[in-house]
Amino acid sequence: MNERMSAKNPPTLQGPGNFFLVVPPPFEELAQQELKEKWPSFFGATPIPAIQVVKGGLELETSLRNGFLLNPLLKIPNRILWRVAEFTCRDFPNLFKKIKKIPWRFYLSALPELDITCRKSGLTDHRKIIKAIHQGIEESFRHQPPQKSTATATLFVRLAEETCTLSMDTSGERLGIRGYKKFQGMAPLRENLAAALVYLLQNECPGQGQNLVDPLCGSGTILLESALFHWPNTARTYAYQSFPFCSTLKIPKIDGLEGLFRSYLGQDRDLQIISWAKENCQNTVIPPGLVLLEQKDLFTPLEKELPQDLAIITNPPYGERFSLKNPQHFFPELIETLLSRWRPKVMGIILPRPWANKIKLPDSYQKVRILSFSHGGTDVQFLIVRPLAVLLS
Ligand SMILES: C[S@@+](CC[C@H](N)C(=O)[O-])C[C@H]1O[C@@H](n2cnc3c(N)ncnc32)[C@H](O)[C@@H]1O
Repeated sequence: MNERMSAKNPPTLQGPGNFFLVVPPPFEELAQQELKEKWPSFFGATPIPAIQVVKGGLELETSLRNGFLLNPLLKIPNRILWRVAEFTCRDFPNLFKKIKKIPWRFYLSALPELDITCRKSGLTDHRKIIKAIHQGIEESFRHQPPQKSTATATLFVRLAEETCTLSMDTSGERLGIRGYKKFQGMAPLRENLAAALVYLLQNECPGQGQNLVDPLCGSGTILLESALFHWPNTARTYAYQSFPFCSTLKIPKIDGLEGLFRSYLGQDRDLQIISWAKENCQNTVIPPGLVLLEQKDLFTPLEKELPQDLAIITNPPYGERFSLKNPQHFFPELIETLLSRWRPKVMGIILPRPWANKIKLPDSYQKVRILSFSHGGTDVQFLIVRPLAVLLS
């Protein structure tokens, strides 16, 4: 049995904790990069912990304080779990016995919600698993009642072969729900995916393509994620804030923050959606005027000079919610229009699979990266293209 969970003393914020950051594949490496880049701004000279990158997430050990504060700091993970116990367990009486020994009053004030997954485990009946765990926790409470009433927590239970791992959810609602977005258009991109893609795009051409444009911006998700990427998110609460020993933990303030790009322009042909995007933007700490939003149909001629140093990122209509009459025409025409009129230094575009492989580019541009991922159950690809002249220089 893991020593930490059988401790007689309550956990402290300075004490060590094992954390698992749940990250949507294939963005695990990028999430590691985000963590390493942002760590010093929150945790100063504290060394960055060793990080193990695994499919679906990052594992690391750090103080409980630092692990909990990764919730407001990081934009790519979905959720952060704190592993509180790991033990061998072969049957239900054994599960009950091990659970009741854990000093649950340090972690919980009431029976938690359970999120259970079983993989090659002899224990598969979810009703029996819930019963054994809840009875074990009640038994632990009978001997040592919780002191303070807090919000209901979620305990993640993983049964893999003969190992049971118990993790407290430190996030609450998935981290992609930022708390400042009042309105959303049709088929919005999940915020943590938008953050990952725009970070990836910026990595592709550091120092170039400083002015970001989303010509099909919908409710503004990508632009907001880009402008707010370095800001810790204080617009919502996190599950760790209701843990019994966390009342003194404050989110550090960071000065001199900037977005990923110098300026931001969003366009959409739908006036209503543009007004929602504006309201979403006003709901944040973004300085007024930094993100420009306007109604415009992409296929109508440009009326004004565009900034020179452009990066384009966009999530065009595709899939079930937008039925495209003729994707054979739409995607090639979209890409041709964006590249020939706007002449970006870099462009990232989400396309339904396998369009990123199929699409032909004008001679002056080249595909530099295709990343496949799942968005709301649809297989999509993020295609990054750059001008050939820039690649050759
Ligand atoms: C998939 S949504 C973008 C969602 C956005 N990324 C978000 O997360 O909110 C596609 C957007 O393209 C806009 N759109 C479609 N055709 C357009 C066109 N020809 N010109 C400008 N906007 C267009 C739609 O109004 C819609 O808001």
